[in-house]
Amino acid sequence: MTITPSIQVKHLSKIYERVNKKRVLVTRALDDVSFTVNRNNFVSIIGPSGCGKTTLLRVVAGLVSATEGEVLIEGKQVNGPGPDRAMVFQMIGLLPWRTVTENVELGLELHGVGRAQRREKAEAQIGGMGLAKFASHYPWELSGGMQQRVGIARALVMDPTTLLMDEPFGALDALTRTKLQDELVLIWERDRKTVLFVTHSVDEALLLSDRIIMMNREGRIKREIEVPLRRPRVMTELMFDRRFAELKRSLLEDLRDGDEGVVECRNE
Ligand SMILES: Nc1ncnc2c1ncn2[C@@H]1O[C@H](COP(=O)(O)OP(=O)(O)OP(=O)(O)O)[C@@H](O)[C@H]1O
Ligand SMILES: [Mg+2]
Repeated sequence: MTITPSIQVKHLSKIYERVNKKRVLVTRALDDVSFTVNRNNFVSIIGPSGCGKTTLLRVVAGLVSATEGEVLIEGKQVNGPGPDRAMVFQMIGLLPWRTVTENVELGLELHGVGRAQRREKAEAQIGGMGLAKFASHYPWELSGGMQQRVGIARALVMDPTTLLMDEPFGALDALTRTKLQDELVLIWERDRKTVLFVTHSVDEALLLSDRIIMMNREGRIKREIEVPLRRPRVMTELMFDRRFAELKRSLLEDLRDGDEGVVECRNE
C-alpha cells in the first residue's frame, strides 16, 4: 500500500511581474521546486533572504497562484486557501480592536461556526497556549511572545492537518524563542500535525526538523538533508553533540557558498 504524502510540491515555479514607470519588472521567485512532506513530518525550509521561502509557503497555503507546477495536499490539488492548512506569520497580524479570544475565533467565524461552539474551541486553545488569564486582553496589552502564542492558537483552533509557519519566532528574544520552540515540539508530537517551517536559523532547523530543505538565491532547491539527531532534542545538549556541530557547519558552509558580494535577490 502506498501512502499519499501530506504535501506534494511538483515542479513549482513562480514569476512575479510588476509594472514600474512603464517597464515590466520580472522576478523569478521559485524555479522548478519539487519535494514531498510525509504526514506528521516536520520539514524546515532555509535559504538566503529573497530566495522564495515565503512565496513557497504562500503557494502551498493557496494565497498565491503558481506560474507553473502544482501543489497537492493529501492528494488534492490546491486552488485556494482551505481550513486543512493554517499559516502562522512572522508579522503576526492580530486585529488590534479584537480581544485575544476574538482574534482566535476569527477563522471559525469566517467558516460560519456558531458563537457558542467557537467560543468553546477558542477558549480551549487559549488555555492550551497558557493564555487563559489574558483571554480578554487586546493584542497591544501582550508581549511579543504572547502575541505569537495567540497567532499559533489562531492557527490550531481550525484543527488543520498542516501548519505552515513563516519564521514565526524570528522577532522574539532568545529565551522566549526557546520556550516557544519547546511548546511547538510538544504540540507537534501531541497533535501529529504536518509542519512546513521557514527559518533563517540553522540551529532552529536542526532542533525542530525531521528534514531540512535548503534553497538558493535562484529560487531552486540546493540541498535536502534528513536530520539524524535523536528526539527529544534540547539545545543545551545538542550544543555538545558532535553530529549536530558537523551538520551545522556543513549547512552554514552551503548557505554561504556562492553568496559573496550578493546583497539582494535577482531581478531578471
Ligand atoms: N508580491 C510580490 N510582487 C513582486 N515581487 C515579489 C512579491 N513577493 C515577493 N517578491 C519577490 O520574490 C522574491 C522572493 O521573495 P520571498 O518573500 O518569497 O523571499 P524570502 O525567501 O521569503 O525572503 P526573506 O528571507 O527575506 O523573508 C524576492 O525577490 C521578492 O522581491
Ligand atoms: Mg520571507
